[in-house]
Amino acid sequence: MIFASQPQVNWSELFGNARAVDVEIGSGKGSFLLSHARLHPERNVLGIENQPRWARWIADRLARASLPNARVLCADASLVVARFVRDESVRAYHLYFPDPWWKRRHHKRRLMQSDFAGELFRTLEPGGVLHLATDVEARFAAMVDELATLPFAVARSDEPTPDGRPLTNFERKYRLEGRSLYYATFTKHRPRSGEIR
Ligand SMILES: C[S@@+](CC[C@H](N)C(=O)[O-])C[C@H]1O[C@@H](n2cnc3c(N)ncnc32)[C@H](O)[C@@H]1O
Repeated sequence: MIFASQPQVNWSELFGNARAVDVEIGSGKGSFLLSHARLHPERNVLGIENQPRWARWIADRLARASLPNARVLCADASLVVARFVRDESVRAYHLYFPDPWWKRRHHKRRLMQSDFAGELFRTLEPGGVLHLATDVEARFAAMVDELATLPFAVARSDEPTPDGRPLTNFERKYRLEGRSLYYATFTKHRPRSGEIR
């Protein structure tokens, strides 16, 4: 049971430093999380994975890899972001191949519903970025539509990112299969000076 009075997470306490925080949602087997944390020791990286089996798998990998800037949390990311993440406290969200359930009957289980899009926006720092990738074109269009209702600058791409971020497990598999993949980044507008926030 979660009570409204429960405190929001203090990233500095969790990681033991005040570095910028990246959050990966739905980390699966954790390849991106580990590689990203290794490539960016100047950032803190949290993976949220709701399947205990995979969260444990990642925790084991993290323990072996000795990455002090990475953590994994086993929980529903939509709940965690809505209830426990402070306003403007996340530098980047990474949302890669989030929905294995793209059929109509699975609509309710989809992550990117309007409430969640709003929570991602609320918790991103000004200038912060949401990275999105999926292999389902219709889902991509729906997620872009959802996010486009918020003040984000949107950039679509045929490649993961210009800086060549590490691939995720699903991404590697889908690329080998020759599937079409869809990518976009959403950058939260910085308020202009004098603008009311
Ligand atoms: C298709 S897999 C992709 C895994 C990884 N991102 C990749 O690209 O290899 C989607 C992952 O998201 C997780 N997931 C789905 N909904 C979630 C939620 N609400 N909160 C946290 N994790 C979630 C699933 O358990 C699964 O591991």
